[in-house]
Amino acid sequence: MRTINYFREYHELQKFIDDCSKLYSNVIIFSQLNILNKSKLEAKINLDGKNIDFFVCDDSEDSKSLRSFEKSMNFLINHKCDRNTLIIGLGGGIVTDFSGFVSSCYMRGIKHILIPTTLLGMVDASIGGKTAINFQNKRNLIGSFKLPESIVIFPEFLKTLDKKEIINGFSEILKYGLIFDKDMFDFIKENFNNLIADMTSNDMLKIIKSCVDYKIDIVKKDFKDIGIRNMLNFGHTIGHAIEMNSKYEISHGESVFYGMKAACYISMKANKLSKNEYNYIINFLNIIPINWDIKFDDEKIYSLMNYDKKIKNGKINLILLDSIGVSYISDAISEESIKESIRNI
Ligand SMILES: NC(=O)c1ccc[n+]([C@@H]2O[C@H](COP(=O)([O-])OP(=O)(O)OC[C@H]3O[C@@H](n4cnc5c(N)ncnc54)[C@H](O)[C@@H]3O)[C@@H](O)[C@H]2O)c1
Repeated sequence: MRTINYFREYHELQKFIDDCSKLYSNVIIFSQLNILNKSKLEAKINLDGKNIDFFVCDDSEDSKSLRSFEKSMNFLINHKCDRNTLIIGLGGGIVTDFSGFVSSCYMRGIKHILIPTTLLGMVDASIGGKTAINFQNKRNLIGSFKLPESIVIFPEFLKTLDKKEIINGFSEILKYGLIFDKDMFDFIKENFNNLIADMTSNDMLKIIKSCVDYKIDIVKKDFKDIGIRNMLNFGHTIGHAIEMNSKYEISHGESVFYGMKAACYISMKANKLSKNEYNYIINFLNIIPINWDIKFDDEKIYSLMNYDKKIKNGKINLILLDSIGVSYISDAISEESIKESIRNI
């Protein structure tokens, strides 16, 4: 990625999009009706008379499909898009994953820019160049690595986001705190209610920036996710299995919360994370407003973990905590310990 821009005002976004439309032969904005309607984007910035068109994606994971991919290719051809067309993905992870994938395929790759509109998109999905569509009910099975030209973080978009989606985003934010940054974790724990009440506050922007920096730093070291980028999977290996087991009824964010709770339990049982720190984390996680009453089938979740892309040579790699802010990777956790941690969620 060439640049990351943090905007506070609509006129900054307006200028950015105006500049794009001057620089490229045409601009196709990929988004969802939901986002365009709720954000009232077209009323807030003037797109009239510019070489800009919208490709509207379905408001569901269905838009990350081969069917939508084909639709988007027809759209780009019908709009005479060429190698100097710019794609802008304006949306949550669904839109940014999909538009990134389309941009990596059309004419062997055209430039794209991402404008994440969800909290999870700002701190995670739009950063790091992973693009994807789903296939045969498997999430992100077909995809590519392609960095956008730039990313625009504009917290104003978060004002229209459902509370549930904000909580989903906090799963990834707390992940960064737990694996890299105790101060950030402590701060969020102390100020959680204030933070979720105002998504455009300076404190919130500071947290988003820190998360973006952590992710960019890791991605620079391991773009193709074959080494240290694995650290970002804290809570995800068990979380993905929970998500898959629910047939994606349980959201990614909630699944990561469950997965992080299990990973903390394993870390404590492995005599790494102290009992005090474990209780400190769990007391906070328990007040996050998600359904903590679900009982998980440890056998099923464990067997689904074996489908995870992160399994190497038949061994499950788990990211665990030494202490808050200090993480490590282990492939030495027994099947029974993992199952126990799932029963304990
Ligand atoms: N590429 C990556 O590295 C990466 C990382 C994590 C997740 N993902 C992917 O991200 C996707 C999930 O993304 P997500 O959690 O951002 O959610 P999402 O894209 O599914 O969006 C959630 C909902 O919020 C709505 N929405 C988005 N922005 C809004 C706004 N500003 N105001 C009102 N409504 C808005 C959307 O229309 C949708 O209904 C999954 O497909 C996942 O696989 C990718």
